[in-house]
Amino acid sequence: MATSSTREIPQTSAIPQHVAIIMDGNGRWASKRLLPRTAGHAKGVQSVRRAVETCGKLGVRYLTLFAFSSENWRRPAEEVTLLMRLFVQALEREVARLQEQGVRLHVVGDLSAFEPKLQALILQAQAQTAHNDKLHLTIAANYGGRWDILQATRRMLAAQPELATQPEKIQESVFESYLSMAWAPEPDLFIRTGGEQRVSNFLIWQLAYAELFFTDCYWPDFGEPELLHAFEWYRNRERRFGRTSAQLNVKSSN
Ligand code: IPE
Ligand code: IPE
Ligand code: MG
Repeated sequence: MATSSTREIPQTSAIPQHVAIIMDGNGRWASKRLLPRTAGHAKGVQSVRRAVETCGKLGVRYLTLFAFSSENWRRPAEEVTLLMRLFVQALEREVARLQEQGVRLHVVGDLSAFEPKLQALILQAQAQTAHNDKLHLTIAANYGGRWDILQATRRMLAAQPELATQPEKIQESVFESYLSMAWAPEPDLFIRTGGEQRVSNFLIWQLAYAELFFTDCYWPDFGEPELLHAFEWYRNRERRFGRTSAQLNVKSSN
C-alpha cells in the first residue's frame, strides 16, 4: 500500500511508554514568593526526583526532561551559573538513588559547551547507570531540536557520504538513526508546565505525533497528583496516526 511515511504505526498503551516534559515556571514560582528566580530552580530539583519516582512506579520506560535549552545561555550570567551548579550537584548527589531505582541516565545536547568538570560527571553518571533498564531518564541539556536535526544530518553525511549523491535513499529510518535519542521510541506524551503553549525547540522531530498536554502548574508545584492527572488525560486521547476513528474501532473490537 502507498504510504507517505516510512514509519510503522507505534503500539499504544494506557500508560505512555515515553513521557517528555518541558519543566517550565521555576522563575515565576519564585517571583510569586518574592524569592530570587534561582530558588525556583533549586525547588524544581525536588519535582524532578518525584517525577522519576512516579514514572518508575507506574511503568513508564522513558522519561525525558528539558533542563537547559540551547537558547537559555541568553539568560543573566548568575542564573546560568546557578543552573550549572545545580546540575553538578544533582549528578554528585542523585546517582546513588538512580541506581537503587534501576534508572539509566542519559544526557543529550551539545555537551562540549559545558565546563570539563560537568562533562566528566555526565560521562561518569552515564557509565555508572549504564546497566540499568527499568527507566531511561534523559536530561536534555544545551539541547535544541534544530541542533539535533543539524548534528544528525552532519553525522549521517559523514558516515554515509554516498547519500549526498543519492538523496532518494535517505529514508526517515536512516536519518532518525543519527538523532541524539535514536535509541528511544518517540514520545507518546509531552507535558509543559508553567502555562506557555509552545514547544520551545524541544524534540521537534520526535514530537510529530505526541499528545500535547499543557498545564498552568509551575514546575516546582508539579507532583504525583499532577502527573497522574496528565496520564488520565492521555488515556482518553484517541491516537489515530492519520487513520479515521472508525478504522480504530474496527481494530479494537477484533
Ligand atoms: C524553567 O523555568 C527552567 C529552565 C528554563 C532552566 P524558567 O526559569 O523558564 O521559569 P519561568 O518560565 O521564568 O517562570
Ligand atoms: C524551555 O523553557 C526550556 C526549558 C524548560 C529548559 P523556557 O522558559 O526557556 O522557554 P521560553 O523561552 O519561554 O520559550
Ligand atoms: Mg520559562
